Amino acid sequence: MLVASASPAVGSPCLRRSPGRGRGRGGARFGMTAARSLSVSVVPILKKLQRECATPLPVLRHVADAMAADMRAGLAADGGSDLKMILSYVDSLPRGNEKGLFYALDLGGTNFRVLRVQLGGEEDRVVATEFDQVTIPQELMFGTSEKLFDFIASGLGKFSNKEGGKFHLPPGRKREIGFTFSFPVKQISIDSGILIKWTKGFAVSGTAGKDVVACLNEAMERRGLDMRVSALVNDTVATLAGARYWDNDVMVAVILGTGTNACYVERTDAIPKLDGHVSTSGRTIINTEWGAFSNGLPLTEFDREMDAASINPGEQIYEKTISGMYLGEIVRRALVKMAVEGALFGKSIPHKLLTPFLLRTPDLCAMQKDESDDLQKVGSVLYDVAGVESNLGARKVVVEVCDTITKRGGRLAGAGIVGILQKMEEDSKGLIFGKRTVVAMDGGLYEKYSQYRGYMHGAVTELLGTELSRNLVIEHSKDGSGIGAALLAAANSNYEHDF
Ligand code: BGC
Repeated sequence: MLVASASPAVGSPCLRRSPGRGRGRGGARFGMTAARSLSVSVVPILKKLQRECATPLPVLRHVADAMAADMRAGLAADGGSDLKMILSYVDSLPRGNEKGLFYALDLGGTNFRVLRVQLGGEEDRVVATEFDQVTIPQELMFGTSEKLFDFIASGLGKFSNKEGGKFHLPPGRKREIGFTFSFPVKQISIDSGILIKWTKGFAVSGTAGKDVVACLNEAMERRGLDMRVSALVNDTVATLAGARYWDNDVMVAVILGTGTNACYVERTDAIPKLDGHVSTSGRTIINTEWGAFSNGLPLTEFDREMDAASINPGEQIYEKTISGMYLGEIVRRALVKMAVEGALFGKSIPHKLLTPFLLRTPDLCAMQKDESDDLQKVGSVLYDVAGVESNLGARKVVVEVCDTITKRGGRLAGAGIVGILQKMEEDSKGLIFGKRTVVAMDGGLYEKYSQYRGYMHGAVTELLGTELSRNLVIEHSKDGSGIGAALLAAANSNYEHDF
C-alpha cells in the first residue's frame, strides 16, 4: 500500500510503501484519525492556495491594463509582446446578403467538424445547414502532418458525398470552404497562413512553419476532392463573423473552451505594423492569441509544475490558467498535494489520482453543481474518476479547491475582456462604452460551466462599474463559428455572389 510521505515533491509525489502491507484497491480508507488530521494539515494548504489564487479588484485591474498595453505593443511590431496580434485579412464582416452553398471545416480540438450551409441572401438568410463531427484519434494528435490532414480530407470527402436536398451547387463551380483552424497561424492572405506552433496538447510533426491550407489542399488532392479553401480563419474570427451576421454591434469574440482566445474589430490606423496592407473598410479583425498573455497573473506551485511538465513549457500561460483543458489538472495537482501531505483521503494515496489530466473540467463542473447535504455527487465523481473514497470533510475541501481554481479562471477571463474593450475605447472614445457593444462568446467552458460564467461576468461588472456595464452585452453565440467560416468563404468566393 502507498502511504503519504512527510514532505513529498508535488507533481511527482514521493510515495513509500508501508512495510508488511499488500497493495490496496487504490481508494482511501477513512478513519477518525484521518478525519481529525484533515483539518490540521489540509487547511493550511487550502488557505495558501486560496491566497495565491485570489483576484481582488487591483489584480483584475492590473490584468486588464496589462492586456491593453500588450495589445498595443503587439500591434506596434511583430514580437512586440506576448500577444501576437495577428492580422486576419478579414476586412469586412458578413452583411446578410450572402448567397449560395458553402462549406466550413473546423479543426481546433479533439473533434473536427464539417458543415455545409445554403445561404439565401437578405430575405432567406440561412436556408439549411448540415454538419458532421468526427473525433480525432489520439495517435493522430501526435503523428505526422500528412496523416492528420489525410484523415481530415477523408472526413470532408465522406461528408460532401452526402450532399443533396436543399443544397445546390451551380454547375461548373468548385465547393468552397471556410477553414477554421484554431491554432496560432501567421496569416499571409485570407486563404493562406503558416502554423506558428501547435497548442492544446497537439504535437503533430511537420506542420509548424508550413501553410496549413497547402497541407489541406495536398491531402484533398491525394483523395481526388475537388474543393477549394477560400478563407482560412481562427475560431474567434469565425465566431465574430457568425455573430455579426445577426447583430451589427458585435465587436469582440471570445472562445473559452479547451483553449482560449479573443479577436476584435480594430481600426487600421491603430496598427503600426500593418505595413502596406490596405483595408477598404478602414477596419480589420485582429486575432489577439491572448492565450499567450502572462503579465501579472496570480500563479501557484501547481500551475508552475503543470507548465513545466507540459509539451509547451513557458507558453500559453493565460490559457493554462483560465481554459478548460487545464482547470481539472490544476485541481488534481492540488488534491495530490493535500492527499500526500495532509492525508486528505486518509492514509493511503489514491493511486489513480496520480494520473495527469485525470480530472477534467466537466468533472469539476459536476462537483460544483452538487447541492446535496452529503455532497453525494462529489463523492461519486471522486470514486468513479479517481477511485477515491471520501468522507464529507474531504468532499467539502475538494469543492473548495474546484471553486478556487474556477473562480480565478473566470475572473481573469473577465479581466481580459475588459482589457480588450478598454484598448478599443482608448482609441475611439465613446464608440465602445458609449453605445451598445456586444461580445460574442463561445466554447464549452463558457457554455456549460455556470459558476465559471458567473465569475467571469462578475469580474467584468466589478471592473467596469454598473453604469458602463449597462451598454455591454456578453452573449453566447452557439456554433456561430461554423456559419461564420462559411460566411467568410462566401465573402471571399471566387465567384459572383448572385446566381
Ligand atoms: C489557440 C487559438 C484558438 C484558441 C481557442 C488556442 O490554443 O492558440 O488559436 O483560438 O485556442 O480555440
